[in-house]
Amino acid sequence: MVSKYNKKVLKEFTNPKNMGEIKNANGIGKIGNPTCGDILWVYIKVEKDKKGEEILTDIKFKTFGCAAAIATSSMITKLAKGKKLSEVEKINYKDIVDALGGLPNIKIHCSAMASQALKKAIEDYKNKIQIKKRVNY
Ligand code: FES
Repeated sequence: MVSKYNKKVLKEFTNPKNMGEIKNANGIGKIGNPTCGDILWVYIKVEKDKKGEEILTDIKFKTFGCAAAIATSSMITKLAKGKKLSEVEKINYKDIVDALGGLPNIKIHCSAMASQALKKAIEDYKNKIQIKKRVNY
């Protein structure tokens, strides 16, 4: 059982990547944890490549959260950026925890919050595509 933050987590927390907002995001996911009170937003930009494949070309996050919320959010943006949307959809909290080399047990929910916010952003993107299709029909 891991009981404190390892060096990788601390490095990710003190030097987070992809923090901020995407002005022209086409998907936004927001999630809050009622127990700890932390909130996280994930912004994504999905674009089609020449083959028509959906690629997550940009991703950013903003959080009112703990050190683990910042570290796990930063890590999920690094795992997702530049990947096919179909691959990004498979990222779950265990992938984040593994990439960080482990998290204290009481901080696992922070990684779940990051993966849920990304899933919500993807849902938002897909809903917008559906609405666009209906409007253009
Ligand atoms: Fe709740 Fe970290 S303590 S997200």
